[in-house]
Amino acid sequence: MKIDLIKTLKYIDKDLELYGWIDVRRDHGKLIFFDLRDRSGKVQLVVTPNDPDLHKIAETLRPEWVVKISGKVVKRPDAMKNLDEPTGEIEIKVSKIEVLTQAKTPPFELSTDGYEIGEEVRMQYRYLDLRRPRLKKNLIERARVIKFIRDFLAERDFIEVETPILSKSTPEGARDYLVPSRLHQGNFYALPQSPQQYKQLLMVAGIEKYFQIARCFRDEDTRGDRQPEFTQFDLEMSFVQRDDILSLTEDLYLAIAKKLYPNKKLTLTDDGKIPRMTHKEAMEKYSSDKPDIRKDKNDPDELAFLFVLDFPAFEWKETEKRWDSTHHPFTKPQVKDTQDFWQKFKSEPGDMLADQYDFVLNGYEIGGGSIRIHDPELLKAVFEALGNNKEDIEKQFGHMFEAFSYGVPPHGGIAPGIDRLVMILMNEPNIREVIAFPKTGDGRDLMMRAPSAVDKKQLDEIGIEIKKK
Ligand code: AMO
Repeated sequence: MKIDLIKTLKYIDKDLELYGWIDVRRDHGKLIFFDLRDRSGKVQLVVTPNDPDLHKIAETLRPEWVVKISGKVVKRPDAMKNLDEPTGEIEIKVSKIEVLTQAKTPPFELSTDGYEIGEEVRMQYRYLDLRRPRLKKNLIERARVIKFIRDFLAERDFIEVETPILSKSTPEGARDYLVPSRLHQGNFYALPQSPQQYKQLLMVAGIEKYFQIARCFRDEDTRGDRQPEFTQFDLEMSFVQRDDILSLTEDLYLAIAKKLYPNKKLTLTDDGKIPRMTHKEAMEKYSSDKPDIRKDKNDPDELAFLFVLDFPAFEWKETEKRWDSTHHPFTKPQVKDTQDFWQKFKSEPGDMLADQYDFVLNGYEIGGGSIRIHDPELLKAVFEALGNNKEDIEKQFGHMFEAFSYGVPPHGGIAPGIDRLVMILMNEPNIREVIAFPKTGDGRDLMMRAPSAVDKKQLDEIGIEIKKK
């Protein structure tokens, strides 16, 4: 097994076989120094002129070549020690060099943090961009956060369930990505905007405590904190009240901050909790439904979580001249029953509140959720209030009503975004920096050159013809 270069300092006076990329080369007259780099870090190699053949090979080495090195780990003389580097007290006295692959000169500098380089070229050569220690660290930290979430929930008896990617349109508010069906021509799957309906169906199935690290797809304009595909930590529970969901989320996120990032400063209430305020309070006090309540907004290591509660159930959609759910139609309005719902909806629909909450961090919406409507009659009323006729409801959501007719437990959940959380934890300016292969602002993958045209034969198979513009 290959040894991580960062661990070489544990092998003083031992002969090792090492693998990695040439980082930089420095010739000091007869001595040639270079750094060897792998995913863990770097170590300095030194080639003396004693072995002319070896020296000759060393002279040819260029940055980013992949090599296998044999050599002895030796302590550096005191004057040569570099205490800023983890392996700065040692170096490898090289006895053999094997070039495994050569490399072209990279299109941009890899030794900097990369912010100064145009993003298009970084995306096109993302596999080189990811060699940067900053980006590698972001991927490592992302994996640590996800593992922490998994372990935390597994300890609390949650079941991780994968739900389909080829699915049906769900009303999350964005445009769907559609996938044509070959076997059922003229019909389409939709990629899930979130696993919302599946997780509710899992509650009907009696799973009770579900979570998933779920990929979601939304065809909407990309921004710094928005990607067409992104990752949610999706959660749903049965037999719960709003505060059960909030306190579980609170315990988990405070544990992430305290255990994984102990140097971060948490802005909490006097009794060490995540502050909560109503949507009304947030709008009145901060004119925002995701206020940034950090004490010092210039401090990159402050984390100010916040729960915003009691959102309005509905908002007026001027373009369609109808009321729409603020969150999604499955969200429970704060009403006693269907009769109470219609009474309130017919008088002041804009005043009706919902059992809906957002999770905010440093002014970003990092999650949203709600207690769901489990009474089929009330759910039908909400769909009708949003302007759907009976046939539409049956066509789009008949499966939910059917499922709810077989014994549905009261349930609710939340879905915090992973990308935004990791972006804030890593003090990054946008979520592309914490996603291995993100899309550009206009939804392209410049490295894979997607989206791309496909063969006519492929289109014929799925019965699709492209309209000429
Ligand atoms: P919602 O639509 O509020 O809720 O999404 C939840 C969280 O997902 C993240 N998010 C995004 N992150 C990156 N790029 C995007 N395009 C993007 N869109 C959303 C945000 C957001 O807060 N099914 C419900 C949740 C529920 O009710 O349980 C849902 O998806 O951090």
